[in-house]
Amino acid sequence: MIQLSHRPRRNRKSAAIRALVEETKVTTDDLIFPIFLLDGKNQKVEVASMPGIFRLSTDLVLKEVEECLNLGIRAFDIFPVVEESLKDKTATKSYDPNFFYLRALREVKKQFPEACIMTDVAMDPYSSDGHDGLVEEGKIVNDETLEILGKMALAQAETGIDILGPSDMMDGRVGYLREVLDSNGFTDVSIMSYTAKYASGFYNPFRDALDSAPKFGDKKTYQMNPANSREAMIEAALDTEEGADFLMVKPALAYLDIIKLLKDNSDLPIAAYNVSGEYSMVKAAAQKGWLDGERVAKEMLLSMKRAGADIILTYFAKEFAQAVKRQ
Ligand code: PBG
Repeated sequence: MIQLSHRPRRNRKSAAIRALVEETKVTTDDLIFPIFLLDGKNQKVEVASMPGIFRLSTDLVLKEVEECLNLGIRAFDIFPVVEESLKDKTATKSYDPNFFYLRALREVKKQFPEACIMTDVAMDPYSSDGHDGLVEEGKIVNDETLEILGKMALAQAETGIDILGPSDMMDGRVGYLREVLDSNGFTDVSIMSYTAKYASGFYNPFRDALDSAPKFGDKKTYQMNPANSREAMIEAALDTEEGADFLMVKPALAYLDIIKLLKDNSDLPIAAYNVSGEYSMVKAAAQKGWLDGERVAKEMLLSMKRAGADIILTYFAKEFAQAVKRQ
């Protein structure tokens, strides 16, 4: 026998002991489920690049929310799919109170007041340019965009939703939206800022889902350079000062270091967005039989939590909850 003073394997010798020493747990309480909303009735269209994820009309979104609530998923991020002919340069439909997505949000909150509903604040799904901000002479203009985001945020807040998610990366938007919300009596509406949102190749399936790809150029003048981490600290300081309630890192898997960085340097809750491309990679490999999809999805979520995420936005939310229930 070799004399070893330390044998770490002792703490791995049985399932019971492994459970005792387990440091990190992902539960349904941690998850926000993104949902793609379609106009119309009884519409269910699978996103080709996201097997298992559907664009749903309001009636089916209501069913989906109910099913998820029964599985323990209580938070949802709802993204509308807007018909091309209804898009314009100033994203007018984003703040038209009669537009289907605002009616749908009212309906969801009416039927499920206990559900936590989050919405996205950015122009891209409603913009004929497919950019998150207003385009003037080929440039995305910051301050003029804020005014539009303010109208959009107010229209969303008026539906009774709980959390606004500014995903546009314009400068000063958190403070601007906080001021607009507060001066209109919406002091209870939270802001989950997309604090460190990178110009990433992992968003393509989402842009398929919403038909929201930019019509020209890319998003590099507003989304962050994947090479940078200190810049995330600048954004975090500004968002905190401007009144954000949560700081988000997006994408998640290739940015675990950024999640950890913000966690170690902020007392605000940290969210991670496990984005569309991260979901699609797992699904594609699982379909080919190359990976056990359920197992690696869990492992990914665990890594985000371990890195410091308090909250994870993930397309795996429902599947995860179903798997927990089966155990
Ligand atoms: C819109 C927005 C995007 C995502 C969330 N909000 C796309 C983008 O910035 O191009 C991506 C989500 C995902 O990939 O799952 N501003």
